[in-house]
Amino acid sequence: MKILCVDHIGIATSNMDKSANFYTQILGLELAGTEEVTEQKVRTAFLPVGESEIEILESTVPDGPIARHISKNGEGIQHIALRVDDIEAALKELKDKGVGLIDETPRRGAGGTKIAFIHPRAAGGVLLELCQRD
Ligand code: CO
Repeated sequence: MKILCVDHIGIATSNMDKSANFYTQILGLELAGTEEVTEQKVRTAFLPVGESEIEILESTVPDGPIARHISKNGEGIQHIALRVDDIEAALKELKDKGVGLIDETPRRGAGGTKIAFIHPRAAGGVLLELCQRD
C-alpha cells in the first residue's frame, strides 16, 4: 500500500454557506466546486489547499451520517482522507492485517473518486478515508 498524501480533511457543518464563507472570505481560499453525493446524503464543497483540500460536508437529510455525527460530536473535523495509488490493493492489505473496515470494497466519492472508510476503532478514534483519484 502506498499513501501518497493527505487528500482532504472532511469538516462537518450544519451551515454550508457560513462555513464556506469563513474559508473563502476570511482565509482567502478558493471554492473549487460543490457536489451532492446522493448515496452519502451529503452536500460537499471543496477548497484546495496546495495538494490537499478542505472538504466541507453538510447533510441533505435530518438523519444522514453527517447529521448524526454533528448531533453526537458537534460540528468540526469529521474525517481525514489519505490518497492511495491503488485502493483495492490497500483494502486487501488492511483486511489481511486484520484492520476493521467500514467499506471492504470502494464506493463512489465526490469528484469521481473511489473511497473507503477504515473503522475509527481500528485507527485510534479517527475516521480515516482512503481515496483514489484517477
Ligand atoms: Co472525504
